[in-house]
Amino acid sequence: MLKHNLVIFASGNGSNAQAIIDFFREDSSVKISLIACNKPQAGVLQIAEKEGIPTLIIEKEPFFRGNAYVEEISALHPTLIILAGFLWKLPSALINAFPGQIINIHPALLPKYGGKGMYGLHVHEAVKAAGESETGITIHKVDEKYDHGTHIFQAVTPVSPDDTPDTIAKKVHQMEHQFYPRVIKDLLNQTPRG
Ligand code: GAR
Repeated sequence: MLKHNLVIFASGNGSNAQAIIDFFREDSSVKISLIACNKPQAGVLQIAEKEGIPTLIIEKEPFFRGNAYVEEISALHPTLIILAGFLWKLPSALINAFPGQIINIHPALLPKYGGKGMYGLHVHEAVKAAGESETGITIHKVDEKYDHGTHIFQAVTPVSPDDTPDTIAKKVHQMEHQFYPRVIKDLLNQTPRG
């Protein structure tokens, strides 16, 4: 049976990568073919090793001024490239090679609290400082601007005056783990297998 190949780009702890791996573990139509990472010490690489998933360490020079690893990734025929805590802006070579096939998750309700430097706890600190009464997650297509492409999915959670950036982060992370794999599944259902 033809499979959907997924490539995950992640450079953090990898809790979203783990949620995606767990969600598709028993699904024989989906294979996580590669985890690409730009930080050799990132926790996500330990997850990849434990799960037996091949890894690719992305280096700045070839990524931004070379071929952007297009050949290596094309060889895997990915249905989707999934950014899960990957913080570099993607070069146009990669975006053009996989039109409409690259998605990202952001821990806020874009277009608020997005852009360069807005990642992880920085986002939740900004939400708290602004006195927002709600926050959430955004899953979107990736284009050449940070946190910018077409929105695919948003989910909202309240922020109470007692919340701290840490408690907001916890709630948002849980939402990411709950929804990102399901949104990926929906997208796969709309796409022929490669
Ligand atoms: C996630 O919260 C994700 O939304 C965020 O990085 C975290 C990675 O956590 N991404 C961004 O902020 C992108 N601008 P994880 O490594 O535990 O999955």
